[in-house]
Amino acid sequence: MKSEFKFIDLFSGIGGFHSGLSSLGGECVMASDIHPAANETYYRNYGLRPMGDITKVESKAIPKFDLLCAGFPCQSFSNIGPRGGLNDSRGELVYEIFRILEDKKPKAFILENVKGLVSHDGGKTFSYIIQTLNQLNYEVQYKILEAKDYGLPQIRKRLFIVGVHKSIKKKFEFPQPTKLKYTLSKVLGGKVERDYAFTIRIGGRGSGINNRFNWDSYMVDGVVRVITPEECLLLQGFKKSFKLSGKTNEKYYQVGNTVPVSVVNAIGKQLISAGII
Ligand SMILES: C[S@@+](CC[C@H](N)C(=O)[O-])C[C@H]1O[C@@H](n2cnc3c(N)ncnc32)[C@H](O)[C@@H]1O
Repeated sequence: MKSEFKFIDLFSGIGGFHSGLSSLGGECVMASDIHPAANETYYRNYGLRPMGDITKVESKAIPKFDLLCAGFPCQSFSNIGPRGGLNDSRGELVYEIFRILEDKKPKAFILENVKGLVSHDGGKTFSYIIQTLNQLNYEVQYKILEAKDYGLPQIRKRLFIVGVHKSIKKKFEFPQPTKLKYTLSKVLGGKVERDYAFTIRIGGRGSGINNRFNWDSYMVDGVVRVITPEECLLLQGFKKSFKLSGKTNEKYYQVGNTVPVSVVNAIGKQLISAGII
């Protein structure tokens, strides 16, 4: 299923949105991120150099597009970080999304965040976000989707918010689960007892296989080892040919932050089949 549509990739990281949508015929007309190594990775793999800090990008500098994608910084909303919410300067970045939606009025958007956003501050932060998106003239739906239900051997539960402009009288439905593309044992190149990898994270590396916070150590063919950033890429659904730039710790940061490609792809297909983009 394909369609010719244009999208922008805000807080672009290494382009989980880009990878998931370009295979459906989408053309990325603008990306933005402040992380130098992620931006280098982005350019290396997609040939598009992300613009920097989104707070400094004027809406008129953004070309016309149909779909806005944004995995906005989640540290301020996460269940594990400090809970500053909208008053935290990283949480405030959601206002940049509101601004661009208001100025550019794309047909639809896909936002991604940690599931803790829903319950943050007793649900007030999330209600405010949904209410604002409604006021901006979007029909909004949200759902927590797991990477493991969309072909990838990784747990990773994330919140997806999809909005369709109210002038488009078409209904979006979240995708049904799909079958596993490859097993965890295949990715790690040996027999692994678990069916699914833990959620890849940006912190807590190297805590050890018996630690309850462990996510990166696995018993592979009876030997404990830490998974590599390249294996993490596969667990996030990127192609084998994808190349990460930066130092090792920067590579782990990039793969821990990204959105699972196959989940984005499944959402994109639903937007296309509904005739929205
Ligand atoms: C959760 S990650 C998004 C990952 C991305 N969707 C991907 O597929 O890799 C959030 C990103 O926001 C970026 N960021 C933080 N502040 C920013 C700002 N002011 N302008 C642009 N990007 C910013 C971070 O560098 C980080 O890469």
